[in-house]
Amino acid sequence: MKTFYITTAIDYTNAAPHIGHAYEKILADVLARYHRLKGEPTYFLTGVDQHGQKVQQAAQKAGIDPEPFVIETTKKFVDLWQKLELSYDEWAETTDPAHKKVVQEILQRLYDKGEIYKATYRGFYSVRQEQFLTEKERDENGNFGPEWGEVVELEEENWYFKLGIYRDWLLKFLDANPQCVIPGFRHTELRNAAEKLSGDLSISRPKSRLAWGIELPFDTNCVTYVWFDALVNYISFAGYGADEEKFRRLWPALHVIGKDIIIPAHGIYWLIMLKALGFEDADMPTFLVHGYVMVDGEKMSKSIGNIRDPHTFADKFGVEALRYFLMRDCAVGQDMDFTDARLVQRYNSDLANSLGNLLNRSLNMSKRYRESRLTKPAEGGVLAEAIASSVADYTSTLDRHLVNQALEAAWNLATRANAYVEETAPWKLAKDPEAAAHLDAVLYNLADSLRVLAILISPVLPRAAEGIFAQLGLTGELRLSDAVWGLLPDGHVLGQPEVLFPRIETEA
Ligand code: MSP
Repeated sequence: MKTFYITTAIDYTNAAPHIGHAYEKILADVLARYHRLKGEPTYFLTGVDQHGQKVQQAAQKAGIDPEPFVIETTKKFVDLWQKLELSYDEWAETTDPAHKKVVQEILQRLYDKGEIYKATYRGFYSVRQEQFLTEKERDENGNFGPEWGEVVELEEENWYFKLGIYRDWLLKFLDANPQCVIPGFRHTELRNAAEKLSGDLSISRPKSRLAWGIELPFDTNCVTYVWFDALVNYISFAGYGADEEKFRRLWPALHVIGKDIIIPAHGIYWLIMLKALGFEDADMPTFLVHGYVMVDGEKMSKSIGNIRDPHTFADKFGVEALRYFLMRDCAVGQDMDFTDARLVQRYNSDLANSLGNLLNRSLNMSKRYRESRLTKPAEGGVLAEAIASSVADYTSTLDRHLVNQALEAAWNLATRANAYVEETAPWKLAKDPEAAAHLDAVLYNLADSLRVLAILISPVLPRAAEGIFAQLGLTGELRLSDAVWGLLPDGHVLGQPEVLFPRIETEA
């Protein structure tokens, strides 16, 4: 069986992670957990981008050398990812000597192939984006917009990678593989950008300007451009050039990235780098491009002062509330708006009321009427149908990485089960000795639906899923193949009901 190999963008270690970074990492974590739940071999790689001008400048500002600086900032990422329960299998740090070795080998190979050459460039350079600018980047007033930050004019000898010779291949590849960029409108954008591709890519920076990077193997006065270093993490940590058996097992990957780095970095540079290294079209990665987490309708930025720290929300509302909100409220591929009020509203309505209430009332009724012992009916009726249809929607959406829709499918089951309680009114059945078998069936179906719900929510809410299993008196591994009606054995005894999601009370 093919390994589900998933990566995220590796985050710059020039500052602490914010909820935008957290969104992406949780999205990838949920997909990795889902594929494990399906029983597929899964490999989840994430990490940090420790080189480059941004990092060097941030270290300078902090008054320390880049090395201790990245050690310190990297720790902030690792601590947060542990707190958010990211289940990555390997951690990529670009200062890792094994990674550096692969980057240098790749540079040397492309140099030996004659695809890297030296030229003098005179022009404008964006310090923030770490790239040279051309006329294309000027806005309608002839200026370089604020997205480029500080723009300086320089003349520099640099090494160039022959990107342009691959333009026709890239266009053909994109046309033949419309599914390689998700969602489709990002594929169209990339196709348009590839059409305009002209010129080559400067892949070196003189050490006089940037010392914090990987040295070019054929010119010790230069380090490599940060993207040429960072993108390689996807293959270097997966064994490329070192452990070919591992690499063959894992590759190609699904790259989860934000909308700002598909063009040109991933969609153009990375695909062409892989092609130049001899990767076949069938071995090109897929890009899942997500939108931005906005705050009160605006992009997070230091100057606006609206950067949201994930710790604040995890500490105040719980890690699972944060995971759930980010996954439920963001349509994959679109931007989302992050507000405290919305998080609390989602938590209270979906977790505390809908699911939490279903769990609590179901277990309490079983306890009250049957001392928590279940009697299995011959068939599941409407809830068995609801399980089957929710599970089908859940898998078909998650197979397409649509986490928010999959959660909707799971909650359809919770809503249906809550309605079933109202329809069957177990408190009335309990008063009627002739309805004993009906009451048994209702209590069983509710408990069995909760068992399935625990399985379905587990990629997003692993702790809550464990909690539900424990309250149902179940142990053992959660598996998607068990998400069918009727696996609770006749005579099964449920555990003690406890409030899983206490309501968040707000002052308002
Ligand atoms: N280091 C590069 C990526 C190299 S990948 C080989 C980089 N780092 S970053 O820290 O700026 O961004 C890391 C990821 O976080 C990117 O995918 C980016 O799109 C994502 N996000 C940054 N801000 C974001 C939001 N506000 N919302 C959602 N994701 C955003 O780019």
